Amino acid sequence: MLEHGKRDLVSIEDLSTAEILELFHHADEFRGNLRAWSELCRGAIMATLFFEPSTRTRLSFESAMLRLGGGVITAADEKSTSRAKGESLADTVRVVGGSYADILVVRHPEDGAARVAARYARVPVINGGDGAHEHPTQTLCDLYTLWKEKGRLEGLEVVLCGDLRYSRTIHSFCYALARFGANIVTMPYPGFELPDYVLHRLRRDFGVQTAAASVADLPGIAGSSNAAAYLTASKPHQLALFTNLTNIEVNRIDAIYMTRAQRERHSGEETKNYPRLSRSTLGAAAAKDARIMHPLPRVDEIDYDVDDDPRSVYFRQAELGVPMRMALMAFLLGRIQLRATRPGTSSVSPGIAAGAGLRCSNERCITNNEGVRYLTRDFRLREAEAPPVLSCAYCEREIEARFVGHAQDRVVHRYNSAEARRIQPQHRVYFESEAQAQAAGFACREG
Ligand code: CP
Repeated sequence: MLEHGKRDLVSIEDLSTAEILELFHHADEFRGNLRAWSELCRGAIMATLFFEPSTRTRLSFESAMLRLGGGVITAADEKSTSRAKGESLADTVRVVGGSYADILVVRHPEDGAARVAARYARVPVINGGDGAHEHPTQTLCDLYTLWKEKGRLEGLEVVLCGDLRYSRTIHSFCYALARFGANIVTMPYPGFELPDYVLHRLRRDFGVQTAAASVADLPGIAGSSNAAAYLTASKPHQLALFTNLTNIEVNRIDAIYMTRAQRERHSGEETKNYPRLSRSTLGAAAAKDARIMHPLPRVDEIDYDVDDDPRSVYFRQAELGVPMRMALMAFLLGRIQLRATRPGTSSVSPGIAAGAGLRCSNERCITNNEGVRYLTRDFRLREAEAPPVLSCAYCEREIEARFVGHAQDRVVHRYNSAEARRIQPQHRVYFESEAQAQAAGFACREG
C-alpha cells in the first residue's frame, strides 16, 4: 500500500469544524460570481470515477472544476471502464491519479471503497459516496445550505426521516450535526433506523446523549414512525435535562431532512408505507420555520406541490453544490489556503496487525468483496474493555472481540481473563470466537 502526504476527503471527519466554516466563506465568494475564477485551477485535471449512477455529484464536481479553469476526464459508468474486465479499484486509481489527473472523485457501491482509493492514489481523493458508508461532500452542501438559511448550526433541531440505515448522506450528516452542536431527531421508517455503529460513534466520539422523543404532529411522517429518538451533544444543561426526562417533546423544528428508500441496497425489505411529505405535513405548527431538505434524487417521498413552498430548499442544496465543491477542490489542490488547523490526530489506535484474526462483519465492505484479492484487513481499537471493540478501518463497522491471543505464543484467552489482561497491547491479537482463533492457528486455554 502506498502512503502520500496529501489531504483526502473520505469522511466528513477529515475536515475540522473550523475548516468547514472557512470553506463556507470561500464558497460564498465563489458564488458571488461563478464566472470569475477561471484562472484559479488552470492546468489542473480532475477525474471522476463513478461506478454507480449519479446526476448531481458528478456533474456539479465537473461544473465546479470547469468554472475553476481546470479540465475534466470522466468514467461515468463502470461498464465503460476496465472494472468490467475485473480491474481493481486500487489499480484504477494508481493509474488515473498522477499523470492522468491531479484530483479524483470516486463513487463506488462497496462500503469503505473511498478509503481504499485514498490509500492507493498519489493525488487527493474525494469520496463521492461509498456504498452505505459516507457521502461527505453532500454533507458539506447540506450544512452550507442550512447555515445560510438559519445563520447558525449550533442548537438547531433537525429531523432526519426515512431510510436512515442505508443512506450514506445521513451518516455523514449526523456526524457533522453532532460536531456543530445541532440536535438530531431521528424518525426512521420502521426497520431502517440508524445503524448501531453510527450511534456508537455519535456517543463515543461526540458525547451524544440519546432519549426517546415525541414530535408535535407531523402528518404524513409522524404516523409512519413511532420510534423517534432525540440525539443531542452532551452539554451540562442537557445532561441535567436528561436525568429528569425520559421523553423529549420537540415543538420547534428547524429542518426536516427527508431521504428516499435506498432500494439499490435493500434485500427485499418492505417499504409500502414509506413516509411521504406533503403540504399537510408543512401545516404542523412545529414546522412553521422548518426548512425542507433532501439530498435528491427524490422518488415519491416529497409531493411535487411542496416544491413551491418557500421552506423547500432541496433544489438550493443541489445548486450550492457547485460553489461548495469549487471551494473544496481549490483547497485540496493547494490553490487556496485555509487559516484553520486540520483535524487533530485521532485518539483511536493506529492500524493493528493484531486485528488480523478478524474479518469485517459487514458483507458489503470492500474487504469482503473485491478487496479480498489484495487488501490487508485493518482494524482500529475503539474500546479496550468489556469487551474490546474494534472497527474496520475501511467501512467502520464494529466488532466485539471476545477472545484475545498472544501474537508470539499463539494462545488465546477470554477477553476478561487475567491471562488476557497480562498480554501487552502490542502483542494482542483479537478474535470474535474460539473457532476464529483456532482457524488462525491459535490454541484456546480456559480462563
Ligand atoms: N445527492 C446525490 O448524491 O445525488 P446524485 O446521486 O444524483 O449524485
